[in-house]
Amino acid sequence: MDVIKTEIIYKSYHGIDSLPALEKNLMLAAMQAAQSAYAPYSSFFVGAAAQLENGTIVLGSNQENAAYPSSLCAERVALFSVGAQHPDIPVVAIAVTAFMGNLDNQHPVSPCGACRQVMSEFEHRYGKPVKMIMMASPNQIIVLESVKQLLPFTFNSDSMKST
Ligand code: THU
Repeated sequence: MDVIKTEIIYKSYHGIDSLPALEKNLMLAAMQAAQSAYAPYSSFFVGAAAQLENGTIVLGSNQENAAYPSSLCAERVALFSVGAQHPDIPVVAIAVTAFMGNLDNQHPVSPCGACRQVMSEFEHRYGKPVKMIMMASPNQIIVLESVKQLLPFTFNSDSMKST
């Protein structure tokens, strides 16, 4: 039996102004996207912004439903919209942020497991890493170079190939 320790690598920035231009621009877009969240049940307003390789930014926000499981997270709204509108263009980065109660109260957010899986599919589909930018606290922003950092031992189509 072996016990194996692994590590994740991320960058931590203090304040949105300390981010490089692409990351800052994308986080500002995610903050804007949160304004269109439909979150009457949780009052947790999430915004996501996906940056495509050609420079296009596609926004998403969480869309809730009275039948709770019918809701969808901001990240998947953005990414499925990319898949529907720009199926041939790889995603290079996604930013996510959240506000609690109202849009003045910024809140930390880290993508749920289902969203990580969907992001991972985008990486696998295009063979390119998707950079993740997330607000960890109102003044701390975390940048990861790939979804793999947040989802090791990923399940993808290779997992179903016979050996
Ligand atoms: N939510 C997202 O949109 N993204 C996340 O990464 C975490 C959670 C949404 C789902 C639900 O509408 C609300 O936040 C509370 O869970």
